[in-house]
Amino acid sequence: MPTIKVPAAMREKLLRSAREAMKNAYAPFSKFRVGAAILTSKGRIFMGCNVENSSYGMTNCAERTAIFSAVAKHGPELEIYAVAVANDHGVPCSPCGACRQVIYEFGPRAIVFYQGEKGPKQSLITELLPEGFRLQ
Ligand code: THU
Repeated sequence: MPTIKVPAAMREKLLRSAREAMKNAYAPFSKFRVGAAILTSKGRIFMGCNVENSSYGMTNCAERTAIFSAVAKHGPELEIYAVAVANDHGVPCSPCGACRQVIYEFGPRAIVFYQGEKGPKQSLITELLPEGFRLQ
């Protein structure tokens, strides 16, 4: 499988979209707003934010919101090329374990842009989630 290349201008556009989506977050419990943007193989961008719940475990992360929005809009033929994540605290924030598995389902070659300990970082989803699970 060829490696996906994301030009710097597209990376910045995705990060801007993630920051924009962050504004819609529903995060009254953690007060930690997160936004995500995904780039699909068709060149489309989908955005998502975290949506929390009084029953805390029902919370949906920004990354999964973006991915589920893409499937809801255009169906299951989705390949994710890239994911960008932003948060309103400017702190390190890579996708959680659950989101890594969901990204992998639709984007086994995806590249993920996020805030690391020492500033902006990028990793392949396979680096964040070695041995990801797939049924097909
Ligand atoms: N959160 C995300 O939306 N994405 C991440 O990558 C990390 C965590 C959300 C979940 C919860 O609403 C809040 O951040 C605090 O954990």
